[in-house]
Amino acid sequence: MNIKKNFENEGFLIVKNESKESLDLLCKTVQNIFKSNKDLDKIHLNFDYKDINKYRLNCFKKLNQIRNWENLYFKQCEKALYSLIGLDISIQTKLNLSIQMPKDTTSSLGLHSDTLSGQSEYEVVVWTPLADAFESNSMYIFDKKVSKLIYQDLNKFEFKGMDKLYNKYKKHAKFLNVKKGEILIFSSSLFHGNIINRTKKTRLSINCRFKSIFAPELEDFPTERSSGSFYKPLKISPVTKWGLKYKYNNIKF
Ligand SMILES: [Fe+2]
Repeated sequence: MNIKKNFENEGFLIVKNESKESLDLLCKTVQNIFKSNKDLDKIHLNFDYKDINKYRLNCFKKLNQIRNWENLYFKQCEKALYSLIGLDISIQTKLNLSIQMPKDTTSSLGLHSDTLSGQSEYEVVVWTPLADAFESNSMYIFDKKVSKLIYQDLNKFEFKGMDKLYNKYKKHAKFLNVKKGEILIFSSSLFHGNIINRTKKTRLSINCRFKSIFAPELEDFPTERSSGSFYKPLKISPVTKWGLKYKYNNIKF
């Protein structure tokens, strides 16, 4: 697969998870919260979706307590991230977890693009399913071409609402088939969302954002989404390291 071309053409791509060790640890951490050794896509058999929020928060806490979770998460698709972003990479300061149980009417997130809610257009979301994601238990995405049409229509639908806008374009929505062991990488500018899970399997996925250390800071959201609070440096290229050390007068490189 040509990672760069795929991203440039569509704005998203699915790659193989490069780190079984990372995936296993992420799954195990979540399994421990649900006190289950079974596949995570069956947790709805023992838990009600109405109680799921407290478990979700617990998972969130434990996932973010994993030692060196940043590198662990990055390792899953480092080849793709290096070729899409470069060698100077920032990571979001928290991992996030989504749980979509069958028939849960409370966890759907309608049509949106992350950039419209203040995320950087210079970032990608790395989305890791902990169980196979397919059909309505997965997320849908609109590729670059359709997302551009939706942006053009935003003003017209301002008062009609995003649900109506989704209905207009839903025949182009791609419900992504992302197996456990694969990773979805997509631009924050693409429109995406999910609907009620009508399958018989729960979907759990972790997401985290990456961008270049040198990506411009957003003017509209200076503190909330800025480097240092929302992101932190993860990988620094040899040349940037050199530059950071360089001093002139007291010759310190
Ligand atoms: Fe989103």
